[in-house]
Amino acid sequence: MEARTLEEIKKECAVCGKCPLGKTRTNLVFGVGNPHAKLMFIGEAPGEKEDLSGVPFVGAAGKLLDKYLAAVGIPRDDVYIANILKCRPPHNCDPLPEEQDACIDYLRAQVKAINPGIIVCLGRISAMRLIKPDFKITREHGQFLRRGSFDICAVYHPSALLRDPAKKDEMLADMLEIKKRYDAIK
Ligand code: URA
Repeated sequence: MEARTLEEIKKECAVCGKCPLGKTRTNLVFGVGNPHAKLMFIGEAPGEKEDLSGVPFVGAAGKLLDKYLAAVGIPRDDVYIANILKCRPPHNCDPLPEEQDACIDYLRAQVKAINPGIIVCLGRISAMRLIKPDFKITREHGQFLRRGSFDICAVYHPSALLRDPAKKDEMLADMLEIKKRYDAIK
């Protein structure tokens, strides 16, 4: 079967009633970037700024992500950025397992449509959902695994770096490795 297009998947998300978050969100935060991206970043869920704008990673965490992308020479427009949840959990709560279950097939469909060579999980929650449930971000960040047609790794969530700037050197090292691998498949 042909992969659904991003536009088709987005239309499904817009009318989704699989969990209650569709009722409390301001905007759907579907994903942004190059539909043919070789590199895809996946965070956990939209925050307030994302909910208001409909675009992932535009708040403080997003601005820090932009700095890392610029520092290693990856244009933000070349990549695709999405989240596990497409609607904001009120009060910035961590996404509940049942909310993730309800939303995860949309992300799978996005991955199938984009067909990236590299997926980078932003933070622990994304890594626990997409790599393995007992993923330990402090120990396992930056380690690549092969999964089907793509390589996958996790890095610190930019919000964690804002809280703990001591992790910034490790983040830069991980981003430099991601850039090296990205150049190799471009
Ligand atoms: N944090 C996330 O995980 N995703 C966003 O889009 C913004 C902040």
